[in-house]
Amino acid sequence: MDKVEFEFVKDGPILVKRGEKVEFALCRCGHSTKKPFCSGAHIAAKFNAEASKLEIKE
Ligand code: FES
Repeated sequence: MDKVEFEFVKDGPILVKRGEKVEFALCRCGHSTKKPFCSGAHIAAKFNAEASKLEIKE
């Protein structure tokens, strides 16, 4: 089974990846119009957050 990775994009959403494929992007700024998914509203909101990654392997 592919690993699942959560990529916390600098100043942006959480990309949920399986292998190299992005499955979806979760909002972490609180301003999305499509919660729980990212709508791109973090740009206008000038969301500021660090980048990081979390991998889950089976
Ligand atoms: S992170 Fe993109 S709209 Fe919230």
